[in-house]
Amino acid sequence: MTTNDYPPIEDRYVSLLWAEPEAAPDIAKLHAELFDPAWDIDAVRRMLVDPCASALVAKVRLREFGPPVPAGFALGRVAADEAEILSIGVSAPFQRRGLGRRLAEGLSRAAKSIGANRLFLEVAADNESARQLYAGLGFTEVGRRPGYYERRDGAAADALTLSRDLNTTT
Ligand SMILES: CC(C)(COP(=O)(O)OP(=O)(O)OC[C@H]1O[C@@H](n2cnc3c(N)ncnc32)[C@H](O)[C@@H]1OP(=O)(O)O)[C@@H](O)C(=O)NCCC(=O)NCCS
Repeated sequence: MTTNDYPPIEDRYVSLLWAEPEAAPDIAKLHAELFDPAWDIDAVRRMLVDPCASALVAKVRLREFGPPVPAGFALGRVAADEAEILSIGVSAPFQRRGLGRRLAEGLSRAAKSIGANRLFLEVAADNESARQLYAGLGFTEVGRRPGYYERRDGAAADALTLSRDLNTTT
């Protein structure tokens, strides 16, 4: 069975929690699983204390009364009427089960509620899963930086800047 064969995780097993600075180790651990280079705990903590930034952590209970485990995160920042998703990730065993969409939508709603009209993010052109997620949420391409992401194997991928209007529903 691949992760794609699992059904979406029911809402009652998922908590989306606003992250306090104490959540920095959980977020850094998830970041290290998913990104290279990864942000260390201090780097994440600095973002969490930034008054313009906020982060959501998705915790999942693996059984009815089990303890919630950190499964994903989304970190964003708002400046005036524009917001940005700085990073988003879901741990591999929990991917393709609806958490990425929940996290991105959670940050979008929060950004809108404090006055942002547009939400931006950057994604590698070869990151098919993330691009599908963002397309489903109404993001469209507004810019491209050729060869921005350098891979360890020497290859490079374009960075796409995507944006969506927070005042339209998807
Ligand atoms: C991108 C990422 C956050 C998506 O999280 P996720 O929890 O797996 O996403 P969801 O289950 O909420 O999927 C939402 C939609 O995204 C798209 N999607 C997600 N994973 C996909 C995959 N492997 N292949 C194709 N489409 C995919 C689908 O359209 C999906 O909707 P569907 O399941 O109804 O078809 C996750 O794959 C991840 O953490 N990747 C590594 C880190 C990363 O690349 N972050 C983004 C950097 S810009």
